[in-house]
Amino acid sequence: MMNIILLGPPGSGKGTQAALLSGKLNAPHISTGDILRRAAGTELGNRAAEYMNRGELVPDSVLIEMIRDRLLQADCAKAFILDGYPRTIPQADALADILRKLDRGLDLVLNIDVPDAELITRLSARRVCKCGATYHLTFNPPENEGVCDLCGKRLYHRDDDREESIRNRLSVYKKQTQPLIDYYGDRGVLVTVDGCGSIEQIAVEICAAVEA
Ligand code: AP5
Ligand code: MG
Ligand code: ZN
Repeated sequence: MMNIILLGPPGSGKGTQAALLSGKLNAPHISTGDILRRAAGTELGNRAAEYMNRGELVPDSVLIEMIRDRLLQADCAKAFILDGYPRTIPQADALADILRKLDRGLDLVLNIDVPDAELITRLSARRVCKCGATYHLTFNPPENEGVCDLCGKRLYHRDDDREESIRNRLSVYKKQTQPLIDYYGDRGVLVTVDGCGSIEQIAVEICAAVEA
């Protein structure tokens, strides 16, 4: 049984590594950002997009309800990999409460550490697919330009991957999310991995932490 959180600034590789780990552990990859983007066109999606495009966090109440619903679904019964949740102390407290009621705990919080300059390089040339796949024009290009390897759909540039939103996301991360490093450190579940190597190297480090 493995209940895992991937923590890290925007562009640190949470989505990339969560997808790999999800395949290895056969555990669902739950990205709150992907859930919100897939809600485009609904009331929730439109409301969330206003915050997301500016690089602000969507209100805690929305996210807490969303993650509670998601974790109660059958595929999460044995394990889950959270990517992008929690992002605030109230979200972390709410998660602890949800898990306590389910008589479960957290096994591991992986903190992916990457310096700001590298984050900006990664995000400005990222391309993503509606199916959840993530690419980079230089570091992880698709086989055919502009098209997803997995599902064949056209890749797109996220609205929040523009210089101004990126800078705001980084500052929001430092103010609101970085305190979770100490929060989980104090609870003895935190492992920090150096997020600067290749995608494969980091995947190896993460596997070692999961198996430890
Ligand atoms: P979300 O979608 O979670 O965005 P994020 O946290 O800003 O993180 P990213 O998805 O940008 O980065 P990542 O760490 O997944 O990196 P990736 O693997 O893609 O959230 C978006 C928005 O939704 C938030 O701003 C907020 O508004 C809202 N939201 C979501 N959850 C919320 C919550 N809990 N509370 C409130 N609001 C919430 O990699 C980045 C790029 O680098 C890719 O191009 C990739 O190919 C490349 N790359 C990855 N690893 C490497 C490597 N080792 N070397 C070189 N390139 C690499
Ligand atoms: Mg992501
Ligand atoms: Zn795809």
